[in-house]
Amino acid sequence: MNYKHVHVIYFSPTHSSAKIAHAIVEGMGAVSYSESDLTYEMPESEEAVEKELTIVAVPVYGGRVPDTAVKRLQKFVGKESPVVPVVVYGNRDYEDALLELSDLLVQQGFTLLAAAAFVGEHSFSCSQYPVAAGRPDQKDHDDAFLFGQHVLEKLEAYPSLEALPPLKVKGNRPYKEKKAAAPSAPLVDASRCNLCGHCVDICPVGAISIQNGEMISDPVLCIKCCACVKECPEEARTFPNPFAEYLYKNFSARKAPELFL
Ligand SMILES: Cc1cc2nc3c(=O)[nH]c(=O)nc-3n(C[C@H](O)[C@H](O)[C@H](O)COP(=O)(O)O)c2cc1C
Repeated sequence: MNYKHVHVIYFSPTHSSAKIAHAIVEGMGAVSYSESDLTYEMPESEEAVEKELTIVAVPVYGGRVPDTAVKRLQKFVGKESPVVPVVVYGNRDYEDALLELSDLLVQQGFTLLAAAAFVGEHSFSCSQYPVAAGRPDQKDHDDAFLFGQHVLEKLEAYPSLEALPPLKVKGNRPYKEKKAAAPSAPLVDASRCNLCGHCVDICPVGAISIQNGEMISDPVLCIKCCACVKECPEEARTFPNPFAEYLYKNFSARKAPELFL
């Protein structure tokens, strides 16, 4: 099979899923390429993805696909399109997220071609407790690039989507239960914050607003992605939480990507 057009779809508040998706596309040597960035808003209408080799990359939250990503991905309908689901996790575990993403995309009409789990810097990583800091790094990029090459070779080896053998992806059904986390949001150091509003623009769920000259985060809307913490130009935002130290102590040993081809 030959697919001329590659379509990348991602939800990626702190950009590691997007970086991995782009490295995979690079490896495919795609000449015609388009992307749908679902990070900042829900697509307005349903979108048909027709005869396009599609890569879908999302982070892992609590061993699952984040709810926000699920809702936004449900807007896409695959038609004769092979898909490569990719999850990016913070070096702890991806548990059932890759299986969940694969199932979701099959439900939406796509055909599973390959899948992968890569590692990205943990959202809660900080200078005191770094977890997978700086990942995806050059090695991850090279692994993703090679994966892209192999995915293309696999696609070319089969005459039709119907001829593809079933793909076994790691994970269990029923998926791990989603635990409702207590509402919370990053803290703002008012002495550093100059109300530039960058955090308002990059919050994937519109949880941040400026009210009466004060930066307000809505703890109920906040998904704790930490994009606002990592991207604040004044380093005015922090997300103190007990997980950072726990992750640092228990999940600092480097994990490698897992590929399903
Ligand atoms: C609420 C939340 C839950 C997370 N749960 C997990 C997890 O279960 N396992 C893991 O290894 N990383 C977990 N992470 C870390 C992210 O998967 C990781 O940082 C990923 O690289 C973020 O992707 P992005 O940069 O594309 O946003 C979690 C992050 C957040 C914000």
